[in-house]
Amino acid sequence: MKLFKSKENRSSGSDNGRREFLQRIGLGSLAISLFGFTFQSIRSLIPNVLFEPSRKFKIGFPAQLSEGMTYIEDMRLYVFKEGQTYHAISGACTHLGCTVRYTKLNQPKTVEIQGEQKTISHEFHCPCHGSKFYADGTNYAGPAPRPLHWYRLEVSPDDGQLVADMTEEVDQNYRLTV
Ligand code: FES
Repeated sequence: MKLFKSKENRSSGSDNGRREFLQRIGLGSLAISLFGFTFQSIRSLIPNVLFEPSRKFKIGFPAQLSEGMTYIEDMRLYVFKEGQTYHAISGACTHLGCTVRYTKLNQPKTVEIQGEQKTISHEFHCPCHGSKFYADGTNYAGPAPRPLHWYRLEVSPDDGQLVADMTEEVDQNYRLTV
């Protein structure tokens, strides 16, 4: 009889221990779920903001720009100065967006672009799938479906610096004269 009682006591003791253990697990899971829910709720209040550089930016004073080509790497923009005139051509290939390379020709060549004979001394070549563009950005080889984009240049009214406006496309005849 004594033996039986002690077994009963032992069994009820282990039941209690198990119950306590399961309660702890339950409370732990609840705490983790609550924490997750609270974190997600707070996170949803914070907007996902993507900080991108402005597509309208100053390049420098016209007189400081070198004659010929200046490449603005972080904006992938080629800016050309020819005496008093300036124009800007995008470095983004119109096929899948790789950066085209300014390629100086060994000697100038004459090409026909839209029925007009032009002598060019450089081109743009895309390293990804081999598209090629004449100096004015006209595509003539490879899979690129369109010419490179041209963007507006203007003079800042505050300080006279050149401003590239990559939000506004212009045609290939556009020149800024300063
Ligand atoms: S991305 Fe330039 S040719 Fe494909």
